[in-house]
Amino acid sequence: MILFRSILFPALLVAPACSFAASPKPNARRWAPWGDGIPVPALAASIGPIDWSSISPSPYSAPRVLHNAAKYPGTATSSIAADSPLPAAVDWRNRNNMNYITTAQNQGACQSCWAFAVTALVEAMVRIEHGIWSKRSEADVHDGVGAACESFGNAEDTLGFVAGQGAEFLNSGGDTPHGIADWPCDPYEATLHGYTPCADRSGRATHIPFYQALGVVEDQKRWLHEYGPLIATFILYSDFQSWKSANAIDVYSWDGEAGSTGNHIALIVGYDDARQAWIIKNSWGPGWGQGGFVYFSYCTANIDGWTKYGLTNVNPDPWARKRHQSGNMMQTGNGETHRDFELFVSSNSTSNTEFAHISRDGQTAGWSLTSSFQSNSSSDGSAHRNVSRLTGQPVVIGTSFGRDFHVVGVDESRNLNHWAYNQSNTTWRQASAIDGEDIDGYPGLVQSDDSSLLVVVRHADGTLREWQHAPRSESESSTWTLRSTIADGETIRVAQSGPTLVQSNVGFDIYDPKASSRGNLYVVAVRTDGTMQLFWRTGNNDTTSSWTPAEVFGSGIPTDTPPVMIQDYFNTANESSIGGFQLAVAVNGSVQHWRRENNDLHLGSPVVGTQGRWLMVEETAAAEVKHVWSLVQGSFSQKMHMITEGSGGKMSYWEWDGKWARVETLLALGDSAWPRSERVSSRG
Ligand SMILES: *[C@@H]1O[C@H](CO)[C@@H](O)[C@H](O)[C@H]1NC(C)=O
Ligand SMILES: *[C@@H]1O[C@H](CO)[C@@H](O)[C@H](O)[C@H]1NC(C)=O
Ligand SMILES: *[C@@H]1O[C@H](CO)[C@@H](O)[C@H](O)[C@H]1NC(C)=O
Ligand SMILES: *[C@@H]1O[C@H](CO)[C@@H](O)[C@H](O)[C@H]1NC(C)=O
Ligand SMILES: *[C@@H]1O[C@H](CO)[C@@H](O)[C@H](O)[C@H]1NC(C)=O
Ligand SMILES: *[C@@H]1O[C@H](CO)[C@@H](O)[C@H](O)[C@H]1NC(C)=O
Ligand SMILES: *[C@@H]1O[C@H](CO)[C@@H](O)[C@H](O)[C@H]1NC(C)=O
Ligand SMILES: *[C@@H]1O[C@H](CO)[C@@H](O)[C@H](O)[C@H]1NC(C)=O
Repeated sequence: MILFRSILFPALLVAPACSFAASPKPNARRWAPWGDGIPVPALAASIGPIDWSSISPSPYSAPRVLHNAAKYPGTATSSIAADSPLPAAVDWRNRNNMNYITTAQNQGACQSCWAFAVTALVEAMVRIEHGIWSKRSEADVHDGVGAACESFGNAEDTLGFVAGQGAEFLNSGGDTPHGIADWPCDPYEATLHGYTPCADRSGRATHIPFYQALGVVEDQKRWLHEYGPLIATFILYSDFQSWKSANAIDVYSWDGEAGSTGNHIALIVGYDDARQAWIIKNSWGPGWGQGGFVYFSYCTANIDGWTKYGLTNVNPDPWARKRHQSGNMMQTGNGETHRDFELFVSSNSTSNTEFAHISRDGQTAGWSLTSSFQSNSSSDGSAHRNVSRLTGQPVVIGTSFGRDFHVVGVDESRNLNHWAYNQSNTTWRQASAIDGEDIDGYPGLVQSDDSSLLVVVRHADGTLREWQHAPRSESESSTWTLRSTIADGETIRVAQSGPTLVQSNVGFDIYDPKASSRGNLYVVAVRTDGTMQLFWRTGNNDTTSSWTPAEVFGSGIPTDTPPVMIQDYFNTANESSIGGFQLAVAVNGSVQHWRRENNDLHLGSPVVGTQGRWLMVEETAAAEVKHVWSLVQGSFSQKMHMITEGSGGKMSYWEWDGKWARVETLLALGDSAWPRSERVSSRG
């Protein structure tokens, strides 16, 4: 067969120009929402060359060489020079030694290739533009449209639906773009069933702006080089379905005889001029082709006769980032480039219970004061409770409920306070509290994989405790319940806690069809002997999951300042990889930065006293740091971001690029020189 093919079409190997006959007529049924007619894209010839100057620069930047302390230039632009000559090959499975493409999925017996291609494109763009793995749900597209198993679709209408266009679709919800939710929010099944996403999908959907149509092959290659993958439509010949590669470099091209069974849609993740082929990620599982991928001859099966589609400037949801940020700063989808930071700073004055919301624009890197609010009232006027001055800084997360911010902080009356910011109506309110429990530590806060809120915090008696808050937080009666005592205050006395609570993806099966899988929880606290200790439990919410003390590390850690911890995604192979922990803590004026490589955690549990798992990566030069308040792995290539407080009470912003550098010290809160900006909103 392979020999036969190359004899029949030797010319294709040298002649990339193609010409095409009229569109073929797939003999399959279609389903009403897409309108009548055969779901083929526009002819490529009807789309002119792109005006590149009208398209925003790609936020992709190649991973930096570690230990390069060059300051981030401040604007989100491509590291690929425009007009640079096109490389002979581009493959997003391996660019600068990084994979940007999720595992090939399996559409099963349904005609859902269009949902798979669009989902695969969004996943790839989140990884390229924001660095995180973000497995999206094909069912959220397929069933969200209201499609039946045998319904055909096309790339253009599907992208339009996800972007929030097309009121004709069954489930398009007003002016809120549909987006695509994460896989566990709506596990894909190749059977006929209704649309039943998770209740909190609004904060779990990655949004996209409008798509880019590309008709000219040269533009398509440039797009692949500078921006990312493209969706392609081609004629599905029976020899493609039965195709098996003879070797890893074998190239598919139509044998000229096999019959058409309709059209197929898939994701182009690169090209290779030496093989005269596109590199395609198919949706027939990793067992098909070459690990689910195929080198697909230029021109064959009309692939270059139809328009291809790309995306840029995707807007990931807070749920997708939740393991990668901790403390008083988080990255949000707000702003033009969806990479703004939101920082919460409590006023350091005894007569004031105010705290400020400061934003950093992801494009200009400029900081501005967004709003401030009295922590003892709500901005809609409804006062609830008196809050005394916060001890230290609060902790923020973005939740799955409308992408709202939730903030907790412990005050000098030893109560824990909880505020929520509604992104739709831009108001703050007091949400709940833990009163009268003698809390005396800095809190860690996460939204768990089951959507509930969890807090771990030290109490004055030297215990470390876990508190749980039901998933929905709107009702005024919502309360925190004590779930576990992690350290009992006797055998292990805890001297300080901090925003170190992480729900990892260890033990989390992203492809669990029942979506009941939960990641293990890990937390680090400072003990009275000046060491730090890791504690962990499985993430399920039944009584069998209890906390276990594990590794002890470090020494001479002060007890008046919190450690901060996140899970990183550095050096990860794919969407199921585990990554490591990154921890920072202020020690006598410097910052100690610790890392744990977690490649052992899926094999066995961490145990008490194991040495050598935690490595101190760096101890910064003395920099008058009193506290570390936040650690974020954001969208800026392979970087981390940190907020510290100096001895004068001012906040400093740091970046890590293999080494920590203090980028700037922010103005004092009361400084009239602060630029002002609008209250943030996730709309639009
Ligand atoms: C909140 O605290 C301020 C002082 O910081 C006080 O003036 C104000 O009355 C308090 N508001 C409520 C509702 O208790
Ligand atoms: C807050 O404290 C002030 C002064 O102690 C008191 O007058 C006021 O009633 C308190 N407000 C609430 C809501 O408890
Ligand atoms: C905004 O939403 C909150 C709930 O998050 C509600 O309590 C409040 O009344 C709303 N305010 C306005 C002005 O709509
Ligand atoms: C946020 O505000 C909007 C508009 O006022 C309201 O519809 C929504 O329910 C609020 N969200 C929460 C979580 O209260
Ligand atoms: C976790 O378990 C507790 C106690 O059984 C229960 O009250 C709570 O609703 C559960 N939380 C979730 C999110 O299922
Ligand atoms: C920090 O300073 C304290 C007090 O001088 C000391 O006990 C501790 O060992 C120091 N920590 C480190 C890591 O040097
Ligand atoms: C994903 O990466 C992990 C290592 O992090 C590896 O064990 C696994 O086989 C990979 N999965 C696929 C489908 O390649
Ligand atoms: C508040 O700021 C002052 C300097 O303005 C500093 O001396 C003091 O330690 C700070 N207090 C707290 C609790 O951070």
